[in-house]
Amino acid sequence: MEDSKRKVVLVGDGAVGSSFAFSLLQSTQVSEMVIVDLQEEHAQGDVIDLQDTLPETTPAKFYTGTYEDASDADIVVITAGVPRKSGETRLDLVNKNAKILDSIVTPVVNSGFDGVFLISSNPVDVLTSITQRLSGFPKNRIIGTGTSLDTARLRVLLAQELGIGTKGVNATIFGEHGDSSFANFDEATVNGKPLRGLPGMTNDRLDEIEEAVKRRGGQIISKKGATFYGVAVNLVRICQAILNDSDVVLPVSAPLSGQYGLSDIYIGTPAVINANGIQKVIEYPLSEAELKKMRYSAEKLNEVLLEAN
Ligand code: 2OP
Repeated sequence: MEDSKRKVVLVGDGAVGSSFAFSLLQSTQVSEMVIVDLQEEHAQGDVIDLQDTLPETTPAKFYTGTYEDASDADIVVITAGVPRKSGETRLDLVNKNAKILDSIVTPVVNSGFDGVFLISSNPVDVLTSITQRLSGFPKNRIIGTGTSLDTARLRVLLAQELGIGTKGVNATIFGEHGDSSFANFDEATVNGKPLRGLPGMTNDRLDEIEEAVKRRGGQIISKKGATFYGVAVNLVRICQAILNDSDVVLPVSAPLSGQYGLSDIYIGTPAVINANGIQKVIEYPLSEAELKKMRYSAEKLNEVLLEAN
């Protein structure tokens, strides 16, 4: 990817979108950033507000625009959609948000966009699959935030429990971003040592931590109405991997083609991300019990995908 062309279009300037824009501008060299939102006036206000950070951040061209602006963009980030309500599962959202997605993806493709779609709207795995269908793009050029956020939550909770920094925690959440996700505790390590052997890390405690990861989104929503910083930072991380062509391994919603015995589905797994989008899906070694959970999670997602058709 040329250094001169680092253009990101954000569709959806809600709490996730504007947190993403703020974080991207703080941390990443972009030449151009465009915000598209139906509530134009609000987006304009956000752009003016965010422009005030530019002397301390990156010298981006930064403006509100339309889907046409995607024509020469490297990445279109879609955060638009109805958010999950307290008590509602992510999968309940599918039909509402699939409709919204259709109204975005078609004009973006018609603009001549030839980059990578990055989706965080929920249910993210299902909407990532739907974006691929709607766009007709090769599967590697559609990425969902998947279990990147759940993995961050797991690392935070384990680090808190063990009283260490998150960097030493090597554990990942796989599967659906949602209720059927699971942690790879059988392979997880902390500062190079197996997690399962560490003091206090009993099966029961690990099950509780896994449950706490799943509850965390709902917990935040019940207290403040929405979750946004965690997913925003994971969107930034994925954008950086694409813009910097960095071949970094991240847990995302990626298209499987035989890995874990599964195909034709976007689901949370580690994958190599670079300027091509998903360069390679990694088939992590999972224990038999975890493989079963991966297949169960895929089944749950497929049920919803069929409903959405
Ligand atoms: C989250 O887990 C709501 O999917 C969102 O924070």
